[in-house]
Amino acid sequence: MITPPGSTIGIVGGGQLGRMLARAASHMGYKTHIYTPEKDSPASHVATKTTVGAYQDTAELRAFGQSVDIVTFEFENIPAETLEMLDYLVSVRPKPGVLFTTRHRLREKEFITAQGIKTAPFAAVHNETELHAAVKKLGVPCVLKTTELGYDGKGQVVIREASEAVKAWAQLGKTECVLEGFISFSAEASVIVARSTTGEMRCYPLVENQHRDHILHRTIAPAPFIDTYQEQAVHIAKTLAEALDVVGLLAVELFVTPDGLIVNELAPRPHNSGHWTIEGSPTSQFEQHIRAICGWALGDTRARSQCEMINLLGDEWQQWEHYAKQPQAHVHLYGKTESRPGRKMGHVTIVKG
Ligand SMILES: Nc1ncnc2c1ncn2[C@@H]1O[C@H](COP(=O)(O)OP(=O)(O)O)[C@@H](O)[C@H]1O
Ligand SMILES: [Mg+2]
Repeated sequence: MITPPGSTIGIVGGGQLGRMLARAASHMGYKTHIYTPEKDSPASHVATKTTVGAYQDTAELRAFGQSVDIVTFEFENIPAETLEMLDYLVSVRPKPGVLFTTRHRLREKEFITAQGIKTAPFAAVHNETELHAAVKKLGVPCVLKTTELGYDGKGQVVIREASEAVKAWAQLGKTECVLEGFISFSAEASVIVARSTTGEMRCYPLVENQHRDHILHRTIAPAPFIDTYQEQAVHIAKTLAEALDVVGLLAVELFVTPDGLIVNELAPRPHNSGHWTIEGSPTSQFEQHIRAICGWALGDTRARSQCEMINLLGDEWQQWEHYAKQPQAHVHLYGKTESRPGRKMGHVTIVKG
């Protein structure tokens, strides 16, 4: 099951996660080939090769699939048919079925609860009757989310009064949604587990995530509350990774509550809250993902020291000069030419002591 160094790893998606995956793969002796619809993508700057093509372009996809030894992906919203077609030609890791579950908030929550793991209480919304029934069942405040395509707080609305429900659903385009009970958490956290082709699993330490406008602003690694919750976090992450049969990384976003951890959502890929591992752990999450999908032994996941990761969103990327003067700060910029409010342009990891 080992994909030997020297092979070419195909990466679907050309963002910063693909860029950092390609860098890790390169230092491990692999070539990389990016498939993305975006011209001049962050990943294309560092990959061995890039194909710019649409996810529906079967001819381009076939040529890509035939030219690589293994395929992985760096984001969730790839059409299911694209990965299924690639999986027919070459081994896709993790398997497309993993994305089928995790990209759809309703399927995801049903899957998690079926493993005996807690999520926010939820109900499906396909029409107004279901919407009213769901609000009645879960009470206010509650959060209405589209089942698909949401990220960084997009595709969700908080409902504070039952009378706002119809307007909230209209705001989301009256598409299939999931209504969630509002969790009054004391903090948000995440844990990343890696699972290799052999079934070996390793977890990184639990980290605390602080959001601004629903976008990750800062990660504190390890989390200040790690001693209380690490064991439960590891249990949750390993149970879900095994049940999903993930090969690669699985990031688990969590709410910390007085009754323990509640799962918010899953991502079967490197995660923004794991960027601290590049400098803060013996094995970065990107190297670990490549190790897992290529069948290597997994690397050490300890935290070498206390770290803080700060996202540089929109024009904040210009702060690079300020951070560059600090000896403990490691500046990462993603090579994006256009800065938009909230766009992830780079990050800084401060390694403390
Ligand atoms: N059920 C909930 N209760 C309380 N806060 C929530 C709930 N769902 C989401 N949030 C808040 O919104 C943020 C983004 O929601 P999330 O479901 O993680 O979507 P995204 O895909 O945009 O990250 C969460 O990190 C959390 O701060
Ligand atoms: Mg989230």
